[in-house]
Amino acid sequence: MDLILKNGTCVTPGGIDVLDIGVRNGHIAALGAVDAAAAPEVIDCRGLHVLPGVIDTQVHFREPGLEHKEDLATGTAAAAMGGVTAVFEMPNTKPATTTTEALADKCRRAKGRVWVDVAFFVGAAADNVADLPELERLPGCSGVKLFMGSSTGDLLVADDATIARVLASGSRRVAVHAEDERRLNERFTIVEGGADPAMHPEWRDVETALAATRRLLALARGVKRRVHVLHVTTAEELPLLARNRDLATMEVTPQHLTLAAPECYERLDTYAQMNPPIRDARHREALWAAVADGLVDCIGSDHAPHTREEKNRPYPASPSGMPGVQTLVPVMLNHVAEGRLSLERFVDLTSAGPARIFGIAGAGRIALGYPASLTVVDLKHRQMITNLGMVSRCGWTPFDGLTVTGWPVMTVIRGRVVMREGTLLGDPAGEAVRFLECL
Ligand code: DOR
Repeated sequence: MDLILKNGTCVTPGGIDVLDIGVRNGHIAALGAVDAAAAPEVIDCRGLHVLPGVIDTQVHFREPGLEHKEDLATGTAAAAMGGVTAVFEMPNTKPATTTTEALADKCRRAKGRVWVDVAFFVGAAADNVADLPELERLPGCSGVKLFMGSSTGDLLVADDATIARVLASGSRRVAVHAEDERRLNERFTIVEGGADPAMHPEWRDVETALAATRRLLALARGVKRRVHVLHVTTAEELPLLARNRDLATMEVTPQHLTLAAPECYERLDTYAQMNPPIRDARHREALWAAVADGLVDCIGSDHAPHTREEKNRPYPASPSGMPGVQTLVPVMLNHVAEGRLSLERFVDLTSAGPARIFGIAGAGRIALGYPASLTVVDLKHRQMITNLGMVSRCGWTPFDGLTVTGWPVMTVIRGRVVMREGTLLGDPAGEAVRFLECL
């Protein structure tokens, strides 16, 4: 063995048990009682919980083109610090990731600079539809991302005919930002020229999300394509998604489960502005019910850093988005501590779920032969989340000042400890995530 994690309380498919994990060549080679003499490095995990590595399937790391907000090194450092072992990065960079060259460029930039494993989405655009079947199968690609409504950047496929063509081109699951562009444009007058950021969920209202999700599901059904609806925010979309479980999976974000209007806008102003918006407590409670009844498939942070200078612009000139990759684990563990979800469900949403949705090769469980990518957490540790503690280049978090119970204390990626007790260790040697359909 190369490494042994001794006496951790491990969340495995068979239950929660105190086990030793023996690691050889980056994989779990023994599980149970492992002789400490069998490896040069033994880490005592007594009192800690060992989880299959947390995978954040929605982050925006801004490289190339917007590195003043974040880059692949700073974004993945934030991930490792937050107990996240792999990320899927979004294509609304500059240039947008819509071509083979742009994807290859991201993969090149990642080499030797990323702290966690990565995959990149390619963006669907009117002019690359024919290339999507080939693009989605390239190494390092997590699939196609479709923006039905405009958000940060200019990626957009708004009309039914082109959306249907995108959905008919390729076979992997398509990740979708579901807001209805026509309704967004019609309603922009509500905030145009200046408004209170609390108007954000009025402009981008329930019907804006619902109409897009309804259209998406009908179009996906027409061509029998699997889709993944990102950051679902409304109570009204949930029954629709529940009727389409054969085709559609869904994500919610920690911020939509934690913050609520109007309080978040009063306290955070434009720093609470994101797309789709944080809505009132009725929606937040409906999302929690969807977590409880198994409708939600995964938690993604939608880490979307912008500088303070940008966020300080008057609404609606202020950009939408908030960082979150470093706070996903502590914020959700705090919900575990407060009894809103079990640790098993946390693992399902952050590791097994992503593996199932996207067909990740060898991820999502602690089991013999699986890669030893692990998130070690201290469920009793109380700590305040602060802006100062954030390693994202943007330097702020909407959770500044929140004291949580539950904290990631170690991030292990394929047998290498890259973060221990708040310190990055070793080198940034993250690799491309591999997918079953593209082996
Ligand atoms: O609020 C958001 N910000 N939503 C998105 O869909 C994009 C993201 C960003 O890239 O800033």
